[in-house]
Amino acid sequence: MTDAPEQTSRTGDAATQRDDRAGRPPAAAPEVLRLEALERRFADGSGGHLEILRGADLVVREGELVALVAPSGAGKSTLLQIAGLLERPDGGEVYVAGVACGPLSDADRTLKRRFEIGFVYQFHHLLPEFSAIENIMMPQLIRGLPVHEAKLRSEQLLAYLRLVDRAEHRPAELSGGEQQRVAIARAVANAPRLLLADEPTGNLDPHTADHVFTALAKLVRASGLGALIATHNLDLARRMDRIVTLHEGVIYDLPTR
Ligand SMILES: Nc1ncnc2c1ncn2[C@@H]1O[C@H](COP(=O)(O)OP(=O)(O)OP(=O)(O)O)[C@@H](O)[C@H]1O
Ligand SMILES: [Mg+2]
Repeated sequence: MTDAPEQTSRTGDAATQRDDRAGRPPAAAPEVLRLEALERRFADGSGGHLEILRGADLVVREGELVALVAPSGAGKSTLLQIAGLLERPDGGEVYVAGVACGPLSDADRTLKRRFEIGFVYQFHHLLPEFSAIENIMMPQLIRGLPVHEAKLRSEQLLAYLRLVDRAEHRPAELSGGEQQRVAIARAVANAPRLLLADEPTGNLDPHTADHVFTALAKLVRASGLGALIATHNLDLARRMDRIVTLHEGVIYDLPTR
């Protein structure tokens, strides 16, 4: 992808080293996410506990697309929230780009989340009062980037996602697929190391889901970030590098074919 946005320069090496036939990153690519023996339990409302994560382990490397496929209620969103530093586990550790996040203060976790992690949800969560380009600029401005730099990068992302002529549209003036592509652009606007997505195409018809997923995968591959994507769509999952599942709180690899 010669026209890939800026962040490719930082991690482009890993992407070019990839074995193109397999579409996989080299085993030695740096880790962007390591989940180690994660535990999470919730009160069940009758004095007992639901053990949702019971020692979940996972490694995601730079340039790698990993699908998380498991039945409803298995704990996918719980796992993503913990990996995204939005919640703390009851046991175990989350490493983002090699740094253990458990010992970090809430303020440092917020910074890590802001700069190193992008999150895409099932529903776009764009700010309704702002245009597509303003929504993509927002995290960059919060980070402290000058307006012209934030605008330039947002324009590059819009071009990459074929949304240039929708830049000034507000979310309500975009189709579902366009909204999700803007949400993806916003998630990667600060050039994160890790992209987490919780059923990013779950709200779309199959054709649009395919289109959005293709755009997301292209962006992940071009920019060398690592991605963990929860999805119920097995066809899309099979197009990723790896598929993992959650069973009784533990993560297992599944065959991709
Ligand atoms: N804050 C909470 N308090 C109590 N129980 C919770 C809480 N959050 C999640 N749970 C329970 O944990 C289990 C896992 O929930 P989670 O949302 O992670 O599942 P999921 O795999 O994402 O499901 P889906 O595919 O439906 O989105 C569910 O049984 C849910 O009811
Ligand atoms: Mg969920």
